[in-house]
Amino acid sequence: MKQATVQFHDKLPGNADLRAEVLRALGAQPRRLSPKFFYDRHGSELFDTICRVPEYYITRTETAILQANAAALARLAGRRTALIELGSGASQKVRLILDMLRPHAYVGIDISKDYLLGATRRLAAAYPWLKVYAVCADFCQPLSLTCCPPDLKRVAFFPGSSIGNFEPQHAVLFMRQLKSVLGRNGALVIGVDLKKEPRHLNAAYNDAQGVTAEFNLNILRRMQRELGAKMDIRGFRHEAFYNEIHGRIEMHLVSLRAQQIHIDNETFHFGKDERLHTENSYKYTIEEFQALARIAGYEPHTVWTDEKHLFSVHYLQVAALGEAGPIPKDHGGDCSGITTENS
Ligand code: AVJ
Repeated sequence: MKQATVQFHDKLPGNADLRAEVLRALGAQPRRLSPKFFYDRHGSELFDTICRVPEYYITRTETAILQANAAALARLAGRRTALIELGSGASQKVRLILDMLRPHAYVGIDISKDYLLGATRRLAAAYPWLKVYAVCADFCQPLSLTCCPPDLKRVAFFPGSSIGNFEPQHAVLFMRQLKSVLGRNGALVIGVDLKKEPRHLNAAYNDAQGVTAEFNLNILRRMQRELGAKMDIRGFRHEAFYNEIHGRIEMHLVSLRAQQIHIDNETFHFGKDERLHTENSYKYTIEEFQALARIAGYEPHTVWTDEKHLFSVHYLQVAALGEAGPIPKDHGGDCSGITTENS
């Protein structure tokens, strides 16, 4: 068999980021870190395990929605497309639509380099007719996909409700910015987790096997491994809860006692119950998300959901390339879904 090849582009999202961000976050009050730092190789693997725990309905439900509607999606996307996946991770979900969609090119964008390379190589081997590109980048940063053939219709694929990590007004900015990559003709296929019973949401982020807890704590492990931080990880516990006022799951690491984290020559004190806010995961109704999409300059075309209305997949067409409408104002924030930092 012909060796499957992947064209690789490294935009070097880099670790300088991790050190600077961690030092800044630990020194600030409240302490907040971007959830993008969960995803080193180990964190990406833990996330894959989360996707299989019984309480985490998101992946299973989205998979079923994509399977059931792949043909409709392919008809909407049309021929001669480039499918661009943001945060491609294991490149598994895209397989659900590749056979129907038959794009000319696939561009996987992910921040975790080793993981990205492995996943896209496996994808290229499984789909020999597909031209596969791998771009190691932080998709929150402005992207220019010069590698991607310009004559193809660009369809972005952003599954898994990763958009939930953005503050709503930053979701708008992000989608707006994405339009310059997609062009006039482009479209965005985006998975969005729906508002539901808090009980159900809380269970999904507090799985009985403790995988989500491990995933959350992995950020401390990265500090040890990559920054040489000295601390006792057992001094922290995982916390996740649905904040109904903001319509989001919040994840925190909570200090079980007074303790210190040492990095370089700096010492950071944590009192008992002091916390590090590691993630927000916003939930929307279908109408709320469509309103956001319109503000970002997309025309909602179709939305698919499951019988229990747990999850939604939206097909959005680029409506206007320029600025369209004001950004909704609410609790400040940025691209990461965490309110005070840059990512
Ligand atoms: C990848 C952001 C969609 O918010 O559900 C899973 C990450 N965090 N369990 C989510 C996550 C804890 C996930 N997203």
